[in-house]
Amino acid sequence: MTNPMTTHGSGAGIELAHEIAAEEVETMLVPRQHLLDLDDLSVADITDLLDSAEGMLEIASRDNHKTPALRGKTIITMFFENSTRTRVSFEQAGKILGADVINVTASASSVSKGESLLNTVKTLQAMSIDALVVRHPHSGAPYFITNHTDASVVNAGDGTHAHPTQSLLDLFTVRNHVGDLVGKKVAIVGDVLYSRVARSDIIAFQKMGAEVVVSCPNTLLPDEWQWDSTLGSETGFAGLRLAANVDEAVDSADVVMALRIQQERQDSGHLPSLREYSDRWGINSKRMELANDGALLMHPGPMNEGVEIASDVAHGFQSVVEEQVRNGVAVRMAVLYTLCAPGKSARIGGGDASNGEETKS
Ligand code: CP
Repeated sequence: MTNPMTTHGSGAGIELAHEIAAEEVETMLVPRQHLLDLDDLSVADITDLLDSAEGMLEIASRDNHKTPALRGKTIITMFFENSTRTRVSFEQAGKILGADVINVTASASSVSKGESLLNTVKTLQAMSIDALVVRHPHSGAPYFITNHTDASVVNAGDGTHAHPTQSLLDLFTVRNHVGDLVGKKVAIVGDVLYSRVARSDIIAFQKMGAEVVVSCPNTLLPDEWQWDSTLGSETGFAGLRLAANVDEAVDSADVVMALRIQQERQDSGHLPSLREYSDRWGINSKRMELANDGALLMHPGPMNEGVEIASDVAHGFQSVVEEQVRNGVAVRMAVLYTLCAPGKSARIGGGDASNGEETKS
């Protein structure tokens, strides 16, 4: 498992850092009750989840898509950072599956009065919850939470560390278009330093057999990554390639993923100017012509149009950005069902939620 404490921190929450650092590292190992990252999932685990999401997509697209599969279960989404796609899709996923979904945001909770993460979790735990979906600016926060709740914890993005459900929906979207990912070239371009999506996507696409190539300014390359003849083996991403420039990365790619410039996490001095960044690393129609015929253009959102991605390609024929969002609901249904359905706890794997009557508690 990648230790989230060693990834590039957001600098947020010194008190929380102490809380987390006080935990034994051993206790941060991932029990299968949770989904914290993709690094300790097998190809079979991931394939099971994607297969399950196929069924969920069909259920979600029905006129009357409500199922009783998770009736009686309580899911709390706890977001300490802003979100549109992830929070809403988890809520929708839980509701389609018949669960009670309660949304907690830091600004509207007692966190704003100084309540610690630990006490917040203990408070929620006292209310008999089944799953906690957590987004937090501090890498490692969801791991910390697993030690203080019986509920399944789902990482909805922690600092710069991981965003596993985003990666699952990215895999699902690509798989639906190209089938087997083995040997496919995936170019990830942009703000790698601050991107939890990049870290989880590199793991995800490499695991499924794709070749992953990264392009970014040197100032947005993580310090701990080694770009030498070891081709990234020091990073834990053996086989990862750094392209000499964005055109080389996009050349013959099957998938081009533009990353958001995360201005809210950046100290000054990473970029000369957004205009120069757009010229040198922005994905535009000319660059997309270098990719393979039928190449997909992806972006995890939210997009800075005109910066990392030109508007015409963001909404053009190669873009699957809205499909990514739609698939996010199905993938999160698969994750919640897998973790929370009666008799399915303590394992990651596929399942059929279509006949909810069979799974009533
Ligand atoms: N991709 C993603 O995490 O988007 P949100 O911040 O809107 O959830």
